[in-house]
Amino acid sequence: MKKTFLITVVIAVVLAIVFSPIASQSPYSRLHNATWGYRGPYDQVLNYTIASVKGSIWQTKSTELVFPPRGQRNWRNITAINVFDQYYPAGEGGYATLKAGGPRFNHTTIKLKSQRGKGYNFVIEIYGR
Ligand SMILES: *[C@@H]1O[C@H](CO)[C@@H](O)[C@H](O)[C@H]1NC(C)=O
Ligand SMILES: *[C@@H]1O[C@H](CO)[C@@H](O)[C@H](O)[C@H]1NC(C)=O
Ligand SMILES: *[C@@H]1O[C@H](CO)[C@@H](O)[C@H](O)[C@H]1NC(C)=O
Ligand SMILES: *[C@@H]1O[C@H](CO)[C@@H](O)[C@H](O)[C@H]1NC(C)=O
Repeated sequence: MKKTFLITVVIAVVLAIVFSPIASQSPYSRLHNATWGYRGPYDQVLNYTIASVKGSIWQTKSTELVFPPRGQRNWRNITAINVFDQYYPAGEGGYATLKAGGPRFNHTTIKLKSQRGKGYNFVIEIYGR
């Protein structure tokens, strides 16, 4: 009787140790946010874009955001770019990568790519001065 109780306690403790990192991990930690550069206190928003697409079976979807938009000019230097992944369930959204320009440049190209069969939903903030 005593021995079974002890074994049960030991098993419970082992399970708690093994599973606690998984249980305590917030789903938000699985979002694919990205950030490049640093935003200073006087930096202003140069561009704010929401980019989202729905998933389609078997397909990956991608797009390239170009700032400034074609035909426009931007004389300010980019200091920071923040990308927030807003696709749920967390972890199933796409990934953002910096293809050109970005901090210290006056232009940038950001690629957004979904996982196969999934969509993406990003908020992109570009700061500069
Ligand atoms: C991503 O950004 C969201 C919104 O600010 C935040 O709640 C979440 O914790 C972030 N996750 C990661 C992994 O950075
Ligand atoms: C922000 O950049 C996107 C991508 O080039 C463009 O479509 C949009 O018009 C821009 N918005 C502003 C406010 O400049
Ligand atoms: C970036 O700045 C340079 C001058 O420093 C200018 O010639 C160029 O047109 C600018 N690029 C854009 C995309 O506005
Ligand atoms: C952008 O950065 C360049 C090089 O650091 C600098 O010469 C220029 O004055 C900056 N432009 C602005 C608008 O701050």
